[in-house]
Amino acid sequence: MKRLFFKKPFEDIREEAFDAEYGLKRTLGPWSLVFLGIGAIIGAGIFVLTGHAAAANAGPAVVISFIFSGIACAFAGLCYAEFASMIPIAGSAYTYAYATLGQFLAWIIGWDLMLEYALGATTVSIGWSGYLVSFLDNVGLNLPAAIISPPFNYDVELHRWISTGAVFNLPAAFIIIFITVILVIGIRESANLNTVIVFVKLCIILAFIIAGFFFIKPQLWHPFVPPNKGEFGIFGWSGVLRGAGIIFFAYIGFDAVSTLAQEAKDPQKDMPVGILGSLVVCTVLYVVTSLVLTGVVRYSQLNVPAPFAVALDAMRLYWFAPLLKIGAIAGLTSTMLVLLLGQTRVFYSMGKDKLLPPWAAKVHPRFRTPYVNTIITGIITATAAALLPIGIVGELVSIGTLLAFVIVCAGVLVLRYTHPEMKRPFRAPGGVATPILGIFSCLYLMAGLPEDTWIRLITWLLIGFVIYFGYGIKHGSRGKVL
Ligand code: ALA
Repeated sequence: MKRLFFKKPFEDIREEAFDAEYGLKRTLGPWSLVFLGIGAIIGAGIFVLTGHAAAANAGPAVVISFIFSGIACAFAGLCYAEFASMIPIAGSAYTYAYATLGQFLAWIIGWDLMLEYALGATTVSIGWSGYLVSFLDNVGLNLPAAIISPPFNYDVELHRWISTGAVFNLPAAFIIIFITVILVIGIRESANLNTVIVFVKLCIILAFIIAGFFFIKPQLWHPFVPPNKGEFGIFGWSGVLRGAGIIFFAYIGFDAVSTLAQEAKDPQKDMPVGILGSLVVCTVLYVVTSLVLTGVVRYSQLNVPAPFAVALDAMRLYWFAPLLKIGAIAGLTSTMLVLLLGQTRVFYSMGKDKLLPPWAAKVHPRFRTPYVNTIITGIITATAAALLPIGIVGELVSIGTLLAFVIVCAGVLVLRYTHPEMKRPFRAPGGVATPILGIFSCLYLMAGLPEDTWIRLITWLLIGFVIYFGYGIKHGSRGKVL
């Protein structure tokens, strides 16, 4: 029992933060961090899932789903900012949990973060594939249907998997392998390159908003909340709630800023700015973009891999569609890069703490990257990308990340009582109300997600329990961690 609650001492964490092996350069200022956050956040959520959530769950009220989700993220973001300023170290949520809630919960969150980072990258790669295929179509290149879709899809009404007739999603697997190679060689995502990609993403979205503004037909917003179809989660307010759980995916990534704590010039000040700044910018953009999208096209037509392209067609801006697709293809690439980078960092930290076997922390002698865990992550993620449909993985990523946020908020709450004396360069305002509201709002969004998704989450966690009790509990460091 004691082992389950063993906590990683703060001194060890601080020592690790200055460990020569990390040796990361502190080059990132507040603006770079905000831009990196936006680079990680804006991706398949807005470019793909918004259409799905509007058509299948919330109708035009997907705008309200975005606001609900943004509020939950704001509470969680404040808690992340408090943690990141107190414990500015790479392992992010996993390390916070190890320091505050004990080894067992740290393991759970580390295991759960695979759903956020590795499966998140899978989801984005499927969206990337959709935009690539659609772009190639525009230039007259048609890839065979058998290699651009997963072989299975999940029939929500029948609650069973059905065969699609396709073989696998080649572009999705390809992009994951390509990024894995980059991560192994260790061309670290330079802040400058990211800034360029973010600039492109922002320009594309702003151009879409400005162009769309002139084509809005307010009657398309009626009924704003379409009537419920007799089933929880399909239109009506339950649909808005489920929509919020699904498009929550669009916000994922602001927490990835916290994994860069060791590269920030002044992490105590800049972490909160990076996390909260990127979150605010994206919330505003999402709300306005989804208003335009549902104001230009009837929501029922948006359940397609590239909903923005449908909107541009409706506006007859045919020349803009290929440009938007190029922007989306570039933009989604940076999201995947950050998510996979985050995954390898978490595995690395877990390997160092011996909760995973030594390969997880093995560093390449020349490239100085955790290459073994990067390659394993790449193979698993690429396989998932080739075989799974976007809706299923997207929902699983959302529920997994929400659980991670719940644990982070709980960690902040616990620490307020157990270590009230610790220096908090940034303290989430509102006393204990913020972490408590964070816990409840994330649980609320989780409650809106389908039963099947819950079953998948629980199955995933049970597999994690088996591995922990079979391996981690025996090998996990006790006492001195380094
Ligand atoms: N928020 C990121 C996206 O929407 C993960 O792609």
